Amino acid sequence: MYLDPEEEKMLDGEYGEAIAMAMKTVLRVAEALKAERLVRVKNAHISGISYKNIGDEGLQFLEELAAKGGRVSVPSSMNPAGLDLAQWRNMGVDKGYFEKQMRIINALAALGVKPTLTCTPYLYEDISYGDHLAWSESNAVLYANSIIGARSNRDGGPLALFEAIVGRAPLAGLHVESNRRPELVIDFTSVSKEVEEQNMYSVAGLLVGALTGNRVPLVRGLKLSKERLDYIKLFLAAVGATGGTGLVLIEGASPENYPASGVDTIKVDFKMLRETLDNYSGTDEGAIVLGCPHLSLDEIMDIISRLPENGTATRKIFLYTSREVYEALSAYMPKLREKNVYVFADTCMVVSPLNIYAGKEVITDSGKAAFYLKAQGYKVKLVSRQKAIEMAFT
Ligand code: F3S
Repeated sequence: MYLDPEEEKMLDGEYGEAIAMAMKTVLRVAEALKAERLVRVKNAHISGISYKNIGDEGLQFLEELAAKGGRVSVPSSMNPAGLDLAQWRNMGVDKGYFEKQMRIINALAALGVKPTLTCTPYLYEDISYGDHLAWSESNAVLYANSIIGARSNRDGGPLALFEAIVGRAPLAGLHVESNRRPELVIDFTSVSKEVEEQNMYSVAGLLVGALTGNRVPLVRGLKLSKERLDYIKLFLAAVGATGGTGLVLIEGASPENYPASGVDTIKVDFKMLRETLDNYSGTDEGAIVLGCPHLSLDEIMDIISRLPENGTATRKIFLYTSREVYEALSAYMPKLREKNVYVFADTCMVVSPLNIYAGKEVITDSGKAAFYLKAQGYKVKLVSRQKAIEMAFT
């Protein structure tokens, strides 16, 4: 494989042990993917940083990498952690867990990764069409590729970190234009109205992921546009939960436009949507959890506007967002708490100890959260955001 002179030096250890180790790993992956060379990346996003997920082994790996002098060479951000850094006591988290999580965040910060702790880097990072990225976190990769037209593979957290250190990724997969063309068409035209009226974008996403696997689908007939950020986020996150693809070409929303000739078409009918939804009808009890992916400020303001003027929710509503949005909401917090609504930053319902502070039965509007929480043994009901709010106030 071709390496430029600087890449050779990285590999030979001229810039230190950590960079050489990172380069060796990136090259191993590049060879496995049959890449002919590496491509420079503009930005990295590192997932898999919750202590709940990576445990002591992951913590040790990060601390050792930092001790060896590792440092990212491009702007890099962190996915949510296993707790809210300020409100962890309210989550029932014990001190030992908190301390281990902080060591993970501190090790990543020592490596130069910004402690953004959100899974929506596309709302905060400076990325645009054609940029090559080293992102892990499936919903972020799907958004970057499908809506912005940037180029990233669905990397694992450690690979994204190594790519951030060397500033390069294998020129393979979705970094290559010829791999971004549709391999099948999924046509929602005949159920477009139902999906729109019943806010079934999470359900549509779960279905697309399951039908697509690792292929690139062209999705037709969904009324998704960049203006409906809430729908697009829910849809793409759900695709990422049930499928392995990192790119969905959405008619009307994706900037890339390739012909879909000679590929199979799957026509979606209402029965397919209903069967997908029926997998997540496990409970009518429990707390409401919204914010997978993390809610934007506009989304939270929209939720606030839908809360009834008077009265308190009969069950707890948990909202998950970034620290930046949380801080922008400070004036609303007392009123929200009065209504039995709680906002957490830095974490989410999937990677925090939800069973401790919310119990084992939950209702969500997120197909991704429903998929992963069900896999963790929770009883989950998937409903629209509006329906979830109504359930909380009846
Ligand atoms: Fe984000 Fe957690 Fe969902 S990291 S996409 S809110 S599972």
